[in-house]
Amino acid sequence: MAKYIGILTAGGDSPGLNAAIRAIGKSAIGTYGMRVIGFRDGFRGLMENRTVRLEGAALSGILTLGGTILGTSRDKPHKMPMGGKYMDMTDVIVDNYHTHHLDALVCLGGGGTQKNAFRLAQKGLNIVTLPKTIDNDVAMTDVSFGFDTALSIATEAIDRLHSTAHSHHRIIVVEIMGHNVGWLALGAGIAGGADVILIPEIPYDVNVVAEAIRRRVHGGKNFSIVAVSEGAMSREDAQALEEARRAKEKAEKNGDKKARKKAAERLKALEAQRGQSTQQLTHQLEALTGLETRLTILGHVQRGGTPSAADRLLATRLGTACTALINEGVYGVMVAARGDGAEPVPLEQVAGKRKTVPLDHPWIESARRVGVSLGD
Ligand code: F6P
Repeated sequence: MAKYIGILTAGGDSPGLNAAIRAIGKSAIGTYGMRVIGFRDGFRGLMENRTVRLEGAALSGILTLGGTILGTSRDKPHKMPMGGKYMDMTDVIVDNYHTHHLDALVCLGGGGTQKNAFRLAQKGLNIVTLPKTIDNDVAMTDVSFGFDTALSIATEAIDRLHSTAHSHHRIIVVEIMGHNVGWLALGAGIAGGADVILIPEIPYDVNVVAEAIRRRVHGGKNFSIVAVSEGAMSREDAQALEEARRAKEKAEKNGDKKARKKAAERLKALEAQRGQSTQQLTHQLEALTGLETRLTILGHVQRGGTPSAADRLLATRLGTACTALINEGVYGVMVAARGDGAEPVPLEQVAGKRKTVPLDHPWIESARRVGVSLGD
């Protein structure tokens, strides 16, 4: 009996999603004689039973398309927004999976999706996932699709910002996505020739950054590019955040509801402040260096448009490896990129984990050796 597989895309959109959908669909149908159905808008569409047939025409002409033809959402099966409340709709999702008589469900997503998919696997569904995110923070895979395209977009932006910084003798601070990891800022900062690169993994001292910029001025370079990961923090903010986290954990351990509430409010305020930290850094650098300083926030531009060749190739490799695993009846795994190939990794080794930039990573060493300040 031909296998019947469902596909959904969840979490932030990313270049390469449609290339992956295409690879899964074409190989499932053409190589293994399977049937394929898509669910709209992530786990929400599976809960609401909103589907789209994925065969023939639907899979043509989408290799180069940005975004996802299925739509996506960040809605979680166990915390589904329902009329102003959050409800656990896992059982509805499990029922819909069985009502469709699916043999497998393929979930394309980042860290959050891997965790949600693992929960469904624990409910007995046959799950296979692919690692997708421009942040490149999915654990246990060499790389996620979306990262290479975003890297090129951010690098090109830094290239363009050089001309205005040079012309106006300015510091240009460019905020780069990455949520709470620094892969994108570090990679684009190196590729774009940034003079300073600040990432969440290395809390920075603004005085060290200012001194690096002043040294450049003394050397005759009266402009600088500061690439900042959106999750980067000053040492002071990182310490305050750590203290609030510890206070919350201690209150929870002691069952002290009042202290826990106070710590949770402090944590929330600090996280909200984190969103303004790049603006604050911009003002501080202008004050400390005397150079005009401007901020550019790249935002969702980094997620837009056609995937790079590398991401199309990666998405196709992982998508076709996915259907081969389903054909063999291998479930409960993420299809991880490994060198030129792919290998199945059990979801319990992926769920809840985040791949941060190791402090001894070769990219960190390379940046330092070409004179980049990492703010420490
Ligand atoms: O996870 C990808 C990502 O682009 C992060 O880099 C960023 O912090 C987040 O999504 C933005 O989320 P949203 O698109 O929901 O605003």
